[in-house]
Amino acid sequence: MTDERPHPVCPAASLPPGERRIIEIEGRSIGVFNVDGEFYAVANVCPHQRAPLCTGDLTGTTRASGVDNIEWHRDGEVLACPWHGWEFDVTTGETVFNPHRWSATTYQTDVLANPEAVERGEEDPAIQMHRVDVDDGIVVVYV
Ligand code: FES
Repeated sequence: MTDERPHPVCPAASLPPGERRIIEIEGRSIGVFNVDGEFYAVANVCPHQRAPLCTGDLTGTTRASGVDNIEWHRDGEVLACPWHGWEFDVTTGETVFNPHRWSATTYQTDVLANPEAVERGEEDPAIQMHRVDVDDGIVVVYV
């Protein structure tokens, strides 16, 4: 049995795709995002140094689509921390880009695994997600 309780946030119509609302529930700051009509709720705290993660840009990311071709994808699904640029998938909470595990060498375009981070066994922490429903047109977050 879960201890989660429903908390009404706002009418779904007042939170259109691409928008967010940062709310306070039981002393916790939570960002509620509309990503292409689906709602997601994310703890407003970055696992790195506790920045207000949900105030960061909602953007996309790049991926290689061939030997020398990079393309933009997942536009509007990637939340970038405003302090140091760590990126998270707002639909799953998983890390998309952890700048501490990667370093770019100066004067080269290679991106290499950061051996110190790997040696320290640093993981890519996920952010905390909360369940969201839309009930009678009202966005409801469970905390
Ligand atoms: S506090 Fe978020 S990346 Fe550093």
